[in-house]
Amino acid sequence: MKSNFVFIVSGGGRGITAQCVIQLAQVYPCNFILLGRSQIEKQPEWADNIAGEIELKKQAFAYFNSQGKKPTPREINQLVKNILATREIQKTLNSINQLGATVTYLSCDITNNIDLSEKLAPIIDEFGQITGIIHGAGVLADKLIENKTTEDFARVYSTKIEGLHNLLNNVNINQLKYLILFSSAAGFYGNIGQSDYAIANEILNKFAYQFKHRYPNCKIISFNWGPWDSGMVTSELKEIFAQRGIEVIPIDVGTKVFAHEIIKDNNEPVQILVGGGLINPLIELDSELKNYRIRRKLTLEANPFLQDHVIGNYAVLPKVFATVWLVNTAQQIYLGYQFFSIENHKLLKGIVFDENLADEYIVELQEINKIPNQEIKLSGKIWSKTKEEKIRYHYQCNCKFLKEIPARPIYENFDDCQDHKLINLKPYEDGTLFHGKSFQGIKRVLNISKKKITIQCILPEIESSTFGQFPPLVFNGLAFDSALQCMLIWVRYFYNAGSLPSFIKKAEYYIPLEKIYYASMDVNFSSNSKAISDLTLHDKKGNIYAIILGLEVTISKQLNNLFNHKI
Ligand SMILES: NC(=O)c1ccc[n+]([C@@H]2O[C@H](COP(=O)([O-])OP(=O)(O)OC[C@H]3O[C@@H](n4cnc5c(N)ncnc54)[C@H](OP(=O)(O)O)[C@@H]3O)[C@@H](O)[C@H]2O)c1
Repeated sequence: MKSNFVFIVSGGGRGITAQCVIQLAQVYPCNFILLGRSQIEKQPEWADNIAGEIELKKQAFAYFNSQGKKPTPREINQLVKNILATREIQKTLNSINQLGATVTYLSCDITNNIDLSEKLAPIIDEFGQITGIIHGAGVLADKLIENKTTEDFARVYSTKIEGLHNLLNNVNINQLKYLILFSSAAGFYGNIGQSDYAIANEILNKFAYQFKHRYPNCKIISFNWGPWDSGMVTSELKEIFAQRGIEVIPIDVGTKVFAHEIIKDNNEPVQILVGGGLINPLIELDSELKNYRIRRKLTLEANPFLQDHVIGNYAVLPKVFATVWLVNTAQQIYLGYQFFSIENHKLLKGIVFDENLADEYIVELQEINKIPNQEIKLSGKIWSKTKEEKIRYHYQCNCKFLKEIPARPIYENFDDCQDHKLINLKPYEDGTLFHGKSFQGIKRVLNISKKKITIQCILPEIESSTFGQFPPLVFNGLAFDSALQCMLIWVRYFYNAGSLPSFIKKAEYYIPLEKIYYASMDVNFSSNSKAISDLTLHDKKGNIYAIILGLEVTISKQLNNLFNHKI
């Protein structure tokens, strides 16, 4: 984006569009022409230093009474609305000016093409060719469809659709580098009382695709905003959204998303749905024990992180990610309950991305026990069918979800001494570990003995898309995998052999890992073919994030040859 770029911004004087433009001006202080129907009016003297709508209304009545006048509540409302609008527009203009951008405000109704053309033409002469349109103007007239009037529909619809049409009519489309539309999640999902608004916003979405097709060099984004903590979302509306479990988008978050998407180099995607997240309502549990089967197609392309987990010549799904898969699936069913533990986690047949990869995999969740408001116990399995149509089980474990997670215990045996012999240990480089970049969370091996190993890890910084079909909804699979790697280092150190985890007796999860975390592994048993240990993930003070008890690995020298390959 260049400093001579000029943006027309409908609705840019007030509300969320104004906030977004301020954020954009912070990154790119170019030129902005803000449009809105409100006029910038001189504030009456009695309103000086009076803040807030209620106080302004009180003072307005008092002032008119003192003048012997009797204004109607409607007149007072309008007057106070104008004062607040002027203040907000002034504040927007000042903020943008202070960022070194050029800005002007034009009072006009974008649904009126004559008004718009007349007012815009001299400004375009002054500012130069328009290179971007941000269409943020919008109004609401929420009512059930049977109560809507033609005028309600026309107002809501025309601000978005005629408004866009008129804006495009007044610029040279071939010179547009940006067309940014403020659409709504209501267009995407629909919303009670907003049939007109949903129609208009969904037309904006569809228009965006059509425009992209015709003008591929223009960056077009239709933001499908969920409700913001600002603008047209009044405190009453916010309350209604909260009751429906929908969180509002904080202003600083929404504006950053806006600026980030605009300045991003690539020209995709056209439609972006942005929401503040769902406040997890508690799912109602009935007494009947249910079973769920959820199918998934696995591909290497959909899961870029697997390129960093290659054993032999093939990518292999790490055992931790089988747990991520089961837990993520269950978490989406049991809203309001939190994942706490797994038991008897067995690796039966690993998933290898070779010619035997199945067309689809099935996560099967069977409810074992449910106590409303307390806990849910499940048996989870992942299976597929062989080419001969036989069922092949890959992983299985029981898992528990709780309403309240118990307080995190403390690990008392943390040994944070750095053994100087180990300072130069480079397990990712010396063939001890085969893991590629996204799995390389181990920062240092602090100490190692026949009975114990302690490592320090740093949460890998990974683009969210890298996680593919295994996003860290509940816990970060890559961070846990790094912690488990200490077992492989220990086995290599004492047995000079490779090893792979095969069984977990029990694991408990308390809170998400922080950036720097430690893994302390206490070895309970070892032989040439297997080792069993307890692994605790904790912070510097020993506060536990998660405990893995009875972690078994299979030890084999044959694995040595397999660990050094890349696909
Ligand atoms: N806030 C949210 O949670 C949310 C969620 C989803 C989508 N959106 C979309 O985001 C946009 C901005 O919403 P907001 O919450 O900031 O609303 P807002 O506070 O009501 O602001 C709407 C803006 O549009 C302007 N406007 C309305 N009709 C106009 C017209 N005919 N000509 C010129 N300007 C006009 C208004 O200025 P005047 O009144 O001075 O004309 C105002 O600046 C809207 O398109 C809305 O649909 C908002």
